[in-house]
Amino acid sequence: MKVCVFPDAHSAAKGAAVCITDLIRGGSIRVLGLATGRSPIEVYRYITEQVTAKKLNLSELESFNLDEYIGLRAQDPSSFHSYMQNRLFSYAKLRKTHFLRGDVRNLLSECHRYEREIARAGGIDLQLLGIGRNGHIGFNEPGSAHDSRTRPVMLSTETRTANQPDFPVGQAVPKQALTMGIGTILEARKIVLLATGVAKSLALRDALHGPTSRDCPASALQRHRDLTVFVDREAASLLDTK
Ligand code: GLP
Repeated sequence: MKVCVFPDAHSAAKGAAVCITDLIRGGSIRVLGLATGRSPIEVYRYITEQVTAKKLNLSELESFNLDEYIGLRAQDPSSFHSYMQNRLFSYAKLRKTHFLRGDVRNLLSECHRYEREIARAGGIDLQLLGIGRNGHIGFNEPGSAHDSRTRPVMLSTETRTANQPDFPVGQAVPKQALTMGIGTILEARKIVLLATGVAKSLALRDALHGPTSRDCPASALQRHRDLTVFVDREAASLLDTK
């Protein structure tokens, strides 16, 4: 595990973005796993700038997003599908983008389909992750098994509250979602975790220095052989980074 501490959130996101774009240019990344939320916004902005300036080409890449709310159509402005369209895919064309569909009738077969698509693509070369304040990764909430696969999950009140700003006033955050499992995430060949802000300091300490436990889904990342963590000083404030 490599932990890179930056003075502020902007430079931490830039560090993660440069790491990812350098690996893409180097030709070792063909399948990207992508995250949503506030943390990766600046990563996608940097990637978009690089593509617009013709310094980066994503046209040979495939992507898989981590998760999607159940009950939202892909076109819903609050869906993670819309998030990715608005922040990356409208500016940077990939060969193929894959999403979990939260609006299908048979959710379990949708999850099995997704796992098959990931396998068919040859697995994920680099998975970008954020971390929830309660240590969730994707939508794997505390209590999730570390060998879990893509599946429907219940969202915690804490997660729904944290994500409420992404929804219009009066529209509740869905109670359920589809998410890549922790076992699915751990199969990525490289993982880049980006965490900024003091609100993530406890989750990060538990994830990186606590026991590997179902109570902290992100603690499963300790077992990964190629994890790079990008943090700002605030999120790293409880880490032993000597
Ligand atoms: C959501 C997403 C996660 C993300 C987390 C933290 O729950 N499903 O993938 O890591 O929020 O998001 P943020 O970066 O906004 O704190």
